[in-house]
Amino acid sequence: MTATIPTPAPRVDGSAAKISVREVSKVFPLKDEQFVALDRVSLEIEDNEFVTVVGPSGCGKSTLMNILAGLETPSGGSALVDGAEVQGPGPERGVIFQQYALFPWLTVRQNVEFGLSVGKVAARERRERADHFIRMVGLEQFADALPKMLSGGMKQRCAIARAYAVNPSILLMDEPFGALDALTRVTLQEQLLDTWSKEKRTVMFITHDVDEAVFLANRVVVMAAGPGRIYDIVEVDLPYPRTEDVRLSPEFAQLRNRVWTSVYHQTAGTHAATASSSTTTPTEK
Ligand SMILES: Nc1ncnc2c1ncn2[C@@H]1O[C@H](COP(=O)(O)OP(=O)(O)O)[C@@H](O)[C@H]1O
Ligand SMILES: [Mg+2]
Repeated sequence: MTATIPTPAPRVDGSAAKISVREVSKVFPLKDEQFVALDRVSLEIEDNEFVTVVGPSGCGKSTLMNILAGLETPSGGSALVDGAEVQGPGPERGVIFQQYALFPWLTVRQNVEFGLSVGKVAARERRERADHFIRMVGLEQFADALPKMLSGGMKQRCAIARAYAVNPSILLMDEPFGALDALTRVTLQEQLLDTWSKEKRTVMFITHDVDEAVFLANRVVVMAAGPGRIYDIVEVDLPYPRTEDVRLSPEFAQLRNRVWTSVYHQTAGTHAATASSSTTTPTEK
């Protein structure tokens, strides 16, 4: 199976997409050769759209996200946010990683307030904003607890509250639920969508879990490895709120199978081409 992903055409009305990735390549110099982590990736994400990116390990998902976060620079092409080229990290882009990036010596509330104190928000407003987002993720009873007292799921909820508190218009999430058990994951997926429906943001959410990718997204971007590229894009026209009923519906199953087939086919292709590749197969995840 082959899939051709067209480069997005410029808009007729001249408006800019919230996120615009244009022919972005990333090459890492290795000892004797160049490693192409991203090969001319093009993608547009609309304001308040929830896009998930799924693909095998090593296909460049984190590299793409780091470029949008301003933590890496592209070797070719350009990454734009609100029509302006990304020059580095910025407060309009909140980043959430898989490992719980909380300060262990600060309480939940202090962690959530942290980004706000950097932005010099007045103490009272800081506290109110922090408490609002702590309530939103259901951690009000743990506002004064230290991270070591929290479960993995609670730590990620705290990280989400902290990212929201800075009021970014974009959330970049790199496998944020990757370290959690299946049940906690499902709960957090529903809570994240609940949060997103109340306070819309443009979200790019990376995962290697096909179910998670479909459950959350307006659109699923399937990436392939060797070289890292966009392989397929699947529209998810399932209604929100995405409840258990949606997850168990035949429409969900159909979309999941569609994405899965895409991931599986390209991974199988990669294996055939490079037998010694370390790319994971879908069953290895
Ligand atoms: N700083 C780097 N130097 C060399 N290779 C890198 C670097 N960062 C990532 N890579 C390689 O680029 C590829 C894509 O990495 P990554 O974006 O982390 O993939 P993913 O997040 O999809 O698992 C991997 O093969 C990885 O080893
Ligand atoms: Mg990664």
